Amino acid sequence: MTGATDCIIEIRNLWTQFGLQVVHRDLNLCVHRGEVLSLVGGSGSGKSTLLREMLGLEHPTQGEVKVFGISLRDGDPAELNRIRNRWGMLFQEGALFSALSVYENIALPLRELKTLDDELIHDLVMLKLDMVGIERGHAAKMPSSLSGGMVKRIGLARALSLEPELLFLDEPTAGLDPDRSESFCTLIAHLKRELGLTVVMVTHDLDTIVSISDRVAVLADQKIAALGTVAEVAAVPHPFIVNFFQGERGKRALEGLKLPQPAPDAPLRQAH
Ligand SMILES: Nc1ncnc2c1ncn2[C@@H]1O[C@H](COP(=O)(O)OP(=O)(O)OP(=O)(O)O)[C@@H](O)[C@H]1O
Ligand SMILES: [Mg+2]
Repeated sequence: MTGATDCIIEIRNLWTQFGLQVVHRDLNLCVHRGEVLSLVGGSGSGKSTLLREMLGLEHPTQGEVKVFGISLRDGDPAELNRIRNRWGMLFQEGALFSALSVYENIALPLRELKTLDDELIHDLVMLKLDMVGIERGHAAKMPSSLSGGMVKRIGLARALSLEPELLFLDEPTAGLDPDRSESFCTLIAHLKRELGLTVVMVTHDLDTIVSISDRVAVLADQKIAALGTVAEVAAVPHPFIVNFFQGERGKRALEGLKLPQPAPDAPLRQAH
């Protein structure tokens, strides 16, 4: 069980320091089961580092990260191995191994289980291709012959191959044109509904944030400076937020959302 109610990821009093540079200072965050949480913040604010800490690829200087109620630092190694199969990650760059075909890229995590025969792996790979809207005929292709949108979808198929409950996305729509970006967001929203996924997504893209986030967490001043729905966060009078949401692109992306008027001295919403 998790400490706080229904936190699939629970971060408590987290500090990250590289030499003298403090990247996160006493940061707290709870990711709720079944939500899409977007993590935004300026360049160098520590988004990727926080994502790596949620995956256990790096450990914070102080504080705790629990995923599925298990501490990534102190958890039992066997249990930690098991939970790694309950999340999937779509990396921003190098989403696919260039020397492997589409089929082998998606099959790789399944083969690593060492419990599935070739026939079952084949069926599962084909199902994953269907799931992300890629025709089965593309299975034999090499990544270099695919468009950027297809690479993202196949990367997503691989991230989903072990049927995770939790999905991490790093800039999933970066580099995609607006149409491909929109259809990728539609796909994520659909998969979230169908599979009951929890999604943590780092992104700069306002259209993506507005279209699929249940909540947005803003990383600024070395902590979660604001947390809430897009409309709630957009109304917080923090300089980064004002800049981010009130530019031309921000205003366009926010059109249609009913925004509360920012109170001049509204307190910043804290994590929890
Ligand atoms: N291994 C490391 N050693 C030293 N400094 C690091 C290390 N990893 C990250 N940093 C520093 O920590 C800060 C946060 O980096 P991070 O990559 O998490 O930022 P980010 O929010 O993802 O930025 P961007 O939007 O540009 O990707 C940066 O100043 C970076 O230089
Ligand atoms: Mg980054």
